[in-house]
Amino acid sequence: MRKQTVLSGIRPTGYLHLGNYFGAVRNFVKMQEDYNCFFFIADIHSLTTHPTPENLQAGVKQVLAEYIACGIDPEKATIYIQSDVPEVTELYTILNMNAYLGELERTTSFKEKARQQPDNVNAGLLTYPVLMAADIIIHKANFVPVGKDQEQNLEMARKFAKRFNRMYGKKVFPMPRPYTFDGKDMIKVPGLDGSGKMGKSEGNAINLFEDPKSVRKKVMRAVTDSGPTEMNQKKPEPIQNLFTLMEIVSKPETLNHFEELYNNCKIGYGDMKKQLAEDIISYTSPIREKIISLLGNNEYLAKVAKAGAEKARESASATLNEVKEVVGIRKLY
Ligand code: TRP
Repeated sequence: MRKQTVLSGIRPTGYLHLGNYFGAVRNFVKMQEDYNCFFFIADIHSLTTHPTPENLQAGVKQVLAEYIACGIDPEKATIYIQSDVPEVTELYTILNMNAYLGELERTTSFKEKARQQPDNVNAGLLTYPVLMAADIIIHKANFVPVGKDQEQNLEMARKFAKRFNRMYGKKVFPMPRPYTFDGKDMIKVPGLDGSGKMGKSEGNAINLFEDPKSVRKKVMRAVTDSGPTEMNQKKPEPIQNLFTLMEIVSKPETLNHFEELYNNCKIGYGDMKKQLAEDIISYTSPIREKIISLLGNNEYLAKVAKAGAEKARESASATLNEVKEVVGIRKLY
């Protein structure tokens, strides 16, 4: 049977953190074996927030190096940069003609961004879901692994795809479905600020690229309490978070050791944090070193980007040609 297509995009606005890694990227590495995977860097999307040219370019290189360092294999998956595939923005223009002001204005992410950057409520922000729909359906993606925050955007992509199919009476696009990780693949990494999950915008993230000194500093600053007072007491959220992190990066014996200390009211959070920091460093160091080495190899990164662009354009132009034919954009020559 033909492989199903999976697609994921990420804006190049910073570093990948442990939450990205355990929540998604680690799973991408497995998925590339079984699916036709497209992983791309959404540099055009990130223009909505007006990054400096230097930051944008550095961000693109960083994500590319980080994806490869995490184990995404350019031979197995198609890794590419959104702006290298002009077919995407062409499809976006066409889809815009069937995207309505009302529905775009009602999108949660638009309303939120408009609140966050009231001086820059630009049209690209409004049509963000249209560009994202173009990203997805240009490869006729079947699955998109998305977190909660992107569910509505995927919903919109389905809506635009369905609308197009219905309008022209042709099944051009399959419906892209959310891909949710299950069981042991579904790891939600908590933040170090006592509540919630790790996220870039939450400011509680430890990056894969974090240097050891900074990892130690961040972990030592994690929120704790004055310690348990009863044997086998239930852990409050900030404490549970430390244990959850330990479960993710440490050896089972280490976790057991601190569980026991906690249950016997003998735990010292300072010791636990020191151990946790070292275990995070052991986990991330090999990845960090690979990132550093890749960032020093512009030639290789360029080669990967070029090969990815070629593969992505092949797939994208096939769909775009079909779309143009369907809507009546046909050559006179
Ligand atoms: N909007 C996504 C985010 O901010 C990034 C993105 C752009 C994306 N295009 C996509 C994700 C297509 C999945 C599919 O995280």
